[in-house]
Amino acid sequence: MQENIKMGVLGFSSSPSSFAWFFVVLSLVMNAAVLCNGGKTSRFIRKLEATGDMPLDSDVFQVPHGYNAPQQVHITQGDHVGKAVIVSWVTANEPGSNTVLYWSEGSEIKKKAEGKVHTYTYSNYTSGYIHHCTIRNLEDNTKYHYVIGIDHTMRKFWFITPPEVGPDVPYTFGLIGDLGQTFDSNKTLTHYEKNPQNGKTMLFVGDLSYADHYPNHDNVRWDTWGRFTERSVAYQPWIWTAGNHEIDFEPSIGETKPFKPYTHRYHVPYKASGSTAPFWYSIKRASAYIIVLSSYSAYGTYTPQYQWLQDELPKVNRKETPWLIVLMHSPWYNSYNYHYMEGETMRVMFESWFVQYKVDVVFSGHVHAYERSERISNIAYNITNGMCTPVNDQSAPVYITIGDGGNIEGLANNMTEPQPAYSAYREASFGHAMFDIKNRTHAYYSWHRNEDGYAVEADSMWFYNRYWHSVEDSTS
Ligand SMILES: [Fe+2]
Repeated sequence: MQENIKMGVLGFSSSPSSFAWFFVVLSLVMNAAVLCNGGKTSRFIRKLEATGDMPLDSDVFQVPHGYNAPQQVHITQGDHVGKAVIVSWVTANEPGSNTVLYWSEGSEIKKKAEGKVHTYTYSNYTSGYIHHCTIRNLEDNTKYHYVIGIDHTMRKFWFITPPEVGPDVPYTFGLIGDLGQTFDSNKTLTHYEKNPQNGKTMLFVGDLSYADHYPNHDNVRWDTWGRFTERSVAYQPWIWTAGNHEIDFEPSIGETKPFKPYTHRYHVPYKASGSTAPFWYSIKRASAYIIVLSSYSAYGTYTPQYQWLQDELPKVNRKETPWLIVLMHSPWYNSYNYHYMEGETMRVMFESWFVQYKVDVVFSGHVHAYERSERISNIAYNITNGMCTPVNDQSAPVYITIGDGGNIEGLANNMTEPQPAYSAYREASFGHAMFDIKNRTHAYYSWHRNEDGYAVEADSMWFYNRYWHSVEDSTS
């Protein structure tokens, strides 16, 4: 009986030559299992073109006309729940007014909010007058107009507040990382703006201006970046993550305070989530709970970031905000031969928490290419047990590397071969992504390369929420 079953399964008798064939076939199958990957490496070849920074006299860097006109205007969420907005801008000639005049569309009543102004120096550079003003108590889902530059040259912009936080609120986030200010950067931003999915808020995963590419980290390139991105970020909030190009630590020129230009220019609502530093914080927006972490601040046991995250994760109420999204700059899972394992120490510290609290997705940048992982974890490994291979784990997040904004350092195109089983899709192209939340169970994710038309999706995936609908959602 036993023999018959073997015959049925294997299809040959147990003679010596058959055994030899069996081992040949078995060895082929085993080799295939080891060498084959579960994912796809796209062989798409992008057009070769210059990736240099756009020249200083480019139209995208133009200084707005008028005396002391506000420039580099940008907004971000100003509180924990989306009822406040931080408006920031720079004036070049004199401090001017700190007032933001704002009103909801159709309303006759104009309100005023007062901000603060400051400057900073970096090596031989002195900044313009940098203004930050928080507007509070905004109505949900409302279009607001705002005016800055009162007393001198006034400029008018608008934004739309998110719907009230709730479990089934649809909302569309854009994703860009490592943008810089090259011709490719401009293409990435244009593709995001023209994407018919209509991103409402940008989740930016770090590395903004790449000013540190220049001698003395020429902070003029922070100004040009502010003017370049204004066309989007003056109208919709960008949620900031600090990358390594924000550190600007340069003792050789006397600059020893990390993140100096970044923290002066880009404010975030970190205190609203109980954080003690602007590099790690959280916000709720629509149906998402977004946790921003810093790859370049201490995260070992007992450190402020560690303690904050330990206290923060249990606070996430998935019945209110089903989608738990984490942003960080340096990826934990990356199969390119660039920045390999730079994120490993943070993974060791935090990965088990991400699995325990069922994070839906982790977005990172840093590697200048695109990659999406399977749902995997590597938390069984404890150094001595040898269990160091990531395994499928339906409680684990999908890890997406989207450092393909198009900066001056160019593309990462050298990949680990064969593609590891945990890597679902990878491609060395510039682009952006969209995370389109439909309801508490479903979100549609797509990645768009700059070489395609605005509506084309080069990679996509339906995300099933890990709290409400925790079934397999792999595309492989
Ligand atoms: Fe980076």
